Amino acid sequence: MAITDHPITAKAHTNIALVKYWGKLDDQLIIPQNDSLSITLDEFYTQTAVQFSPSLAADKVVFDDQTLSATDSLRVRTFLDQVRALAHIDYRASVTTQNFVPTAAGLASSASGFAALAGAASRAAGLHLNRQDLSRLARRGSGSATRSIFGGFVAWQQGHDDATSYAYPIDEQPTWDIAVVALVLTAKQKKISSRVGMKRAVETSPFYPAWITASQTDFKTMKTAIETQDFELLGHTAEQNAMRMHALTLSSDPTFTYFNADSIKAMNMVRDLRLRGISCYFTMDAGPNVKIICHGSDAKRIAQHFQTAFGQDHVLVTRPGAGISISD
Ligand code: ADP
Ligand code: DP6
Ligand code: CO
Repeated sequence: MAITDHPITAKAHTNIALVKYWGKLDDQLIIPQNDSLSITLDEFYTQTAVQFSPSLAADKVVFDDQTLSATDSLRVRTFLDQVRALAHIDYRASVTTQNFVPTAAGLASSASGFAALAGAASRAAGLHLNRQDLSRLARRGSGSATRSIFGGFVAWQQGHDDATSYAYPIDEQPTWDIAVVALVLTAKQKKISSRVGMKRAVETSPFYPAWITASQTDFKTMKTAIETQDFELLGHTAEQNAMRMHALTLSSDPTFTYFNADSIKAMNMVRDLRLRGISCYFTMDAGPNVKIICHGSDAKRIAQHFQTAFGQDHVLVTRPGAGISISD
């Protein structure tokens, strides 16, 4: 296996889960407790360049123009170890990554981040993985990254081991007019990472078994909604599923929440819009930022409505995005 003599660049988009992954069966391999399903977003992404080199004594990680300390780069270096094992190489790497999405704010930076790293690092190590294997590799960095290999609507089948847990596309280029209005209410880093939050829910929430049952039903319903292009069913199911996940944080020990006051205000505004006959639904990942699922034709006026409440710069209209791209 030959490492490349030049940096390889990969671009991967974030995704917002319509049926959430919230809990692991295997922390090491990142095997989830349930199937999940997402939509890849065009406006939020990560760009990462990787080159392995015999002349490097240690891995070097530059994240948003800052060189990371050994402690701060641990998660990336652990991931590089997995790539090295796969490619049977022992060279250190130089990694440069830029997030075009707020980091650790519930906008899925770990999804685009580890999908882009999987793509760039594997190719730089001389591997040419197909998208299924790339999805499995990305999974080892962050569960949600499993789905960011593909564009449009994507499912992550839970599987039961490293070979069987990967994502597959359901509809890579949706022909229906669907949009996600993202409210970036705060770009502050969350206090409780997704990793820590979901582990606490698995270990302490008495509702966890009910979550598994409900989310598997939601997954089937969501697939039907996408196959039949049933917007109401998709939106309603996504909103229910999101609140079921957030009920796990509230019912954990110690309790916690990713909601802030603006999240609650935004969710109430979505409910009010529905009462006024505008079809839209909310979802939230592990952070206070709310995403509103709507018909593409309504996106502009919905965005304006939220801009009035939260400010021009805090509202972004996104649409289904593409899967990963990797340079030669
Ligand atoms: P988010 O809601 O943004 O996905 P998480 O708690 O899941 O928040 O993950 C945030 C972590 O993901 C960061 O602290 C960092 O370790 C990792 N991460 C984010 N972006 C990148 C990137 N571009 N490259 C490597 N790792 C990244
Ligand atoms: C709420 O994929 O960030 O966004 O696997 O520990 O890195 P790790 O967690 P992560 O968790 C995502 C949680 C979620 C739901 C989802 O994306 O499915
Ligand atoms: Co994440």
